Parts: sequence; structure tokens; C-alpha cells
Amino acid sequence: MDKTRRNFIKKTAIGTTGIAIGGLGMTATSYARIVGANERMNFAVVGVNSRGGAHTAAVSKDSRGVVSHICDVDSKALAKGIDYAKKASNDNNPKAVKDFRKLVEMKDIDVITIATPEHWHAPMALMAVQNGKHVYLEKPSSHNIRENDMLVEAQKKYGKLIQMGNQQRSAVTSWQGIEKIRNGVIGEPYHGRAWYAATRGSIGTGKVIAVPDHLDWELWQGPAPREEYRDNIVHYNWHWFRNWGTGEALNNGLHELDICRWAMGLGYPNEVQSSGGRFFFQDDWEFFDHQRLTYRYDKGKIITWEGNSCNGLQVLGRGRGAMIYGTKGSILLTRNGHIVYDKGGKEIEVVNEKEASATMNTVGAGNLDTQHFGNFIDGIEGKAKLHSPIEVGVVSVNLCHLGNISQFTGKTLQLDPKNGKILDKKIAKKFYGREYQPGWEPRV
Ligand SMILES: NC(=O)c1ccc[n+]([C@@H]2O[C@H](COP(=O)([O-])OP(=O)(O)OC[C@H]3O[C@@H](n4cnc5c(N)ncnc54)[C@H](O)[C@@H]3O)[C@@H](O)[C@H]2O)c1
Repeated sequence: MDKTRRNFIKKTAIGTTGIAIGGLGMTATSYARIVGANERMNFAVVGVNSRGGAHTAAVSKDSRGVVSHICDVDSKALAKGIDYAKKASNDNNPKAVKDFRKLVEMKDIDVITIATPEHWHAPMALMAVQNGKHVYLEKPSSHNIRENDMLVEAQKKYGKLIQMGNQQRSAVTSWQGIEKIRNGVIGEPYHGRAWYAATRGSIGTGKVIAVPDHLDWELWQGPAPREEYRDNIVHYNWHWFRNWGTGEALNNGLHELDICRWAMGLGYPNEVQSSGGRFFFQDDWEFFDHQRLTYRYDKGKIITWEGNSCNGLQVLGRGRGAMIYGTKGSILLTRNGHIVYDKGGKEIEVVNEKEASATMNTVGAGNLDTQHFGNFIDGIEGKAKLHSPIEVGVVSVNLCHLGNISQFTGKTLQLDPKNGKILDKKIAKKFYGREYQPGWEPRV
């Protein structure tokens, strides 16, 4: 909440305690209710075609927040987002805003949550913290490694909080499972194995068509170099184009790779290797539908991710998961709970979330979001440390960027484990950042 508004509310509230408020026809109690509503943090949710709805739902469930603004460059999505927000809580009566550059300057907004395509993530978050807003930033935090460096720098410079939206970091059962690992239940952890399996179809070959009336294509593209509008990009399919998206490793792999890294207490590895390819369709998809990533750490420890975007064969009956292998046993950490296995593979403890969280839908809404937003709001109130502060989140995001760079170059990458920088100077330079549309370059 901006200081002027807070001070105004404080003064007004003190001045009217215990009396009927002349002229307004209100009792102190009804007035207090309004003051209570005004003291809530105002959240602007940006990008509401799909995932933004989960942000709205999570904010609406927390009595400390209210959805005051909805921002989208697609008027259909915007209308849907407003409608959804009003239904999510009687307190939400959001204003509609199309242009993020205007939104970010609005003084009555305390927090901005970002669920846009990935080319916009870091540029928006940077503008938000520069304008004094706290930020909930969907994973992956960035389109490239340089933007992650900028986010960490800007967070320090402007002192606003940035929570990354990898919501399993707030799963109670993951916390409990990881505490058991720390207490030695599986002995020494040596392999974190993450996986994802889905049955995605083809995105076809795009045809250049007129931009739909309801979409501002210029603002949708924002910092990304301009391309003609085609019929297989908006919405969602941008994930598979390098100008806007980052592929399956960052779309889904990131979630469980991050859990493995957290569970094993690891940072950057010494080496990254990727193999895979596009096996299923001949279409515009610019990434890989099968990818195996291997991260090698000291003492032979590894983290691996196997991504199958178009082959839904599950592992242990699950389309996604993170298994940590140790010298005394193993532990499976999922969004819904954890299972401890002994060395012989026998289940010895099963712990489930009381309320199951969505696992395989593209929106990903569930109680983990509520917990992750709750932790974010606790952080803003100074009551808790963030579960996924940006400087921690970017390490896992960079692991995925590095995996894609290994795949694009066909090379095993040697890294400086202190900071994750690629030792091959040519590759490091070529893949560090991206080109921006002139005039749209982000800055710290
Ligand atoms: N944490 C999770 O579990 C989870 C789940 C799903 C998606 N996501 C992430 O959320 C993000 C959004 O995914 P999605 O599936 O909702 O994508 P989507 O394409 O369905 O929706 C993106 C929305 O952003 C809007 N948008 C684009 N540019 C904008 C701008 N400049 N200003 C305002 N709005 C703009 C689009 O019009 C669209 O409505 C992605 O980064 C994705 O990785 C996270």
C-alpha cells in the first residue's frame, strides 16, 4: 500500500473511532469495515487468459489482498479476467487496464502478479519494482540468463520482494519430506530424478492472418522483435517459439528440477548435458518434445530430468514427479505429498496433502497457489521469509536455460559452479541474452 493512502486511512480511522460519521450516515462499525477493505493490499493481475485466473483465485482467498486491477492486451481475456475476479470475491471490483506501462505507474497498486508469456516476464517485473511494487512472477522468471541477473540486481536495488511462481516450494508435504532427508531418512542423497510426461498435439504450420480485433499484437509482442501475426501463436502455443517461449524444460521441467535441487541442497553444477529432439511432428515447434537433462555435481551426484511432451507414459503412475535416491532409501516428492521407500523399494511412509492440488492441467490452480501467495503476503508483511525469492528461483531457471543451450549447441557445457557461468566464452556470449525490439530494452 502506498504511504499516502496508508497515512490517510490511519488518520481518518483514528479521527472517527466510536462515533457516527456525520453526513455519511454510517456507524463506526460499518465504516471500520470499509477501512478494513481499504487496508487490504491492492493486487493487479497481469495476463489472465489462463494461469492469471489461478493468481486471482489465490489472492481472493487471502483476506489481506484484493484484486483491484486486471491487465491484458486481449480484450476478450480481459473481460473474462474481470468477470472471474468478481465471481472469486465480492470484494473484487477490478479496473480493466490494457497497457502495462500505464498500470505500473498507478499509485493505488501495491502488488503486481505476472502470468504473461515469457518474453514479458523479466521486463515487466523490472518495471514493477522500479515503480515500487512487489511482484509475484510466474515461472520461469526470465526468457534468458541475462534477464535473471538483471532481476536479482533490481531486487537488491529497489528493495521490493519478487516471489517466483514455482508453487511447490510452498507445499507443506515437500517441506516435511525435505526435512526428513536432512534428518537422514534416505542416507546420503546422490541422484535427484525429475520427469514430466504429456501427450501434446502438433501446433501445425502457422499462416499469416489479420490480427484479431480483440488483440493488441504490438503490446503482446512488447520487448520481443516484431513478427507477423500467425494463426498458431496466441494463446499458449508461443511456448514453443524461441522469440517468446522457452520450451518444455522451463515450462514444466523447472518445477521438479527445482524440487530436486532444493531437496539435495545443491546450487549450480560443474557440467550440464542435454540430449533429445523433436520426434513427433513436423511443424513450427522450435524446441524438443523429448529431452533428457543431466546436471553433474561434486562427488558424482547428479540431477536429471526426462521430459516427454508427446508421449504420456508415466513413471510410477505419475505424469510428473521428483524422486530423490539416497544410500539408505528414496523419497518421492510430488505436488500432492511424499512417499519414503526403503533400499529394497518398499513403501515405508506415505504422506498426502489433505486437499489434492492440480497436477497435470495447464492452469495448475490449487491449494499450493494459495499457500505460495500466502507466503508472499506474509513476506510483504515482514512475517516470513519468501519460499521462492528471486535470487533462489533464478538458479533453477538458469539450470533449465543451460539445458536448452546444451541442446542447441550439441555440447556438454562446463560451468563455474560458483555462479553457473558457462566456461566456453563464445557460447556464454552468444546465449547470455537476447535481441530486443528497439525502444523496448529492459533496464535495471
Ligand atoms: N506455476 C504454474 O503451475 C503455471 C501453470 C501454468 C502457466 N504458468 C506460467 O504462466 C504464464 C502464462 O501462461 P498461460 O498458459 O496463462 O499463457 P496464455 O498464453 O494462455 O495467457 C497469457 C496471457 O497474457 C496476456 N498478455 C500478453 N502480453 C501481455 C501484456 N503485455 N500485458 C498484459 N497481458 C499480456 C495474453 O493476452 C494472455 O491473455 C507462463 O509463463 C506459464 O509458464 C505457470
